[in-house]
Amino acid sequence: MSGEIERVLFTEEQIHQRIREVAAAIEQRYEGRELKLIGILKGSVFFLTALARVLTLPVKLDFLAISSFGSKNPGVVRIAKDLDEPIEGEDVLLVEDIVDTGFTTRYLLQNLAGRNPNSIAICTLLDRTTKRMVPVPVEFRCFEIDDRFVIGFGLDYKQLHRNLGYLAVMKP
Ligand code: PRP
Repeated sequence: MSGEIERVLFTEEQIHQRIREVAAAIEQRYEGRELKLIGILKGSVFFLTALARVLTLPVKLDFLAISSFGSKNPGVVRIAKDLDEPIEGEDVLLVEDIVDTGFTTRYLLQNLAGRNPNSIAICTLLDRTTKRMVPVPVEFRCFEIDDRFVIGFGLDYKQLHRNLGYLAVMKP
């Protein structure tokens, strides 16, 4: 594995420290309320569980899976697994591992907003604004990264390496 890694971008300790800081900001924003965390499979699972573990607010969890249609069809997204429960009247935090072009997040925001939640906001582990093609309002983010291929803490290369505890840049 170490042969495929160019360098460690953020250690496990740095990631958890930053998650605690973001959790504190979330708790301030939603003080006294209940929060529905919606994870987008599969990348967000590790971040979502780490975040949920340090939040002291009452949280509910639900998950969505989406299919995109490759780089030839940017922005074409479809729901492959829908939420189990309605979100009407709830405060929803959409939890992502990474926001790149923004197409996925924009689609999900529009789709979920149509289900009449009380509020909806985006929380992402990584934000790669250099790749953004459509604007999306990222309210909570742990790290901004540049245009390198990153694996670990949920992010994959050909479905592998999601289970690394740290974030690393892959060799080109
Ligand atoms: C990643 C990530 C977001 C999306 C962001 O998912 O989890 O859902 O891409 O990209 P965008 O901003 O360019 O739309 P991916 O398709 O890699 O699936 P995965 O979570 O299963 O790894």
